[in-house]
Amino acid sequence: MKTKRRVDITQARTKPVRLDGGVKGHAVYWLGHDEPSAFRTNAYLIVDGDQALLVDPGNRAYFAEARERVAQVVDPACVSGMILCHQDPDVAASMPDWLAVNPRMRVFTSPRTQVLLPYYGYPDYAYADVEDEPTLVLPSGGELYFIPAPFLHFPGAFATFDTASGFLFSGDVFASLDVGSWLWAEDFDDLADNMHLFHAEYMASNIATRGFVNRLAGLDIRTILPQHGSLIGKEHVPQALQWLADLRCGTDLLYPELV
Ligand SMILES: [Fe+2]
Ligand SMILES: [Fe+2]
Repeated sequence: MKTKRRVDITQARTKPVRLDGGVKGHAVYWLGHDEPSAFRTNAYLIVDGDQALLVDPGNRAYFAEARERVAQVVDPACVSGMILCHQDPDVAASMPDWLAVNPRMRVFTSPRTQVLLPYYGYPDYAYADVEDEPTLVLPSGGELYFIPAPFLHFPGAFATFDTASGFLFSGDVFASLDVGSWLWAEDFDDLADNMHLFHAEYMASNIATRGFVNRLAGLDIRTILPQHGSLIGKEHVPQALQWLADLRCGTDLLYPELV
């Protein structure tokens, strides 16, 4: 099935792309980056009332570009927080640069990630523990749910579900390696092949993937927004969840004799 949202990332690269359907007082943007690599990263911005939250802002080399795109939506100094789904440099290395823009920016992350983030060289910041407080209420009344995704791929990884938009910011889960230029996944079989390239070696095991899918039960997921590769629209969400629940990866493939 083809989607109607055909955004060519090589054309959209100078502007943030609004992704949500226009919930009052709430907006979600893709901040771009047409990195010439199959590993290309996605950074996002959630704006809700006086809150502006970065989701996985990305590497240091991309910081100036990301800040410029944020500035087209809100004053970067007014960004109130960043959500870091784990500590990998493609997710979090720009953290010190963002904290230099606004030292009061809150860092929403898991305790295991928090152990490692100070090694980026900016240890003094406001840390919000997403396991201690798994729900963040936004000014619009919408909520962010922080959902653990253990061993996908980091032990302390987590995803973020935005109730106002129905968006699941999934971090490395559902990431795909794709050299195409369309922002949204078009054909599910192609998407599955591209997700497999990433998940087979990165993700821990079927127990980890199936357990995470079980944690998502009951959520009305309208879009999946991974940190790499194609965004996954509603028409593909049920298949994507089933694909993840059935996936054999990591130790399942390394030690098949033990499965
Ligand atoms: Fe990662
Ligand atoms: Fe990543």
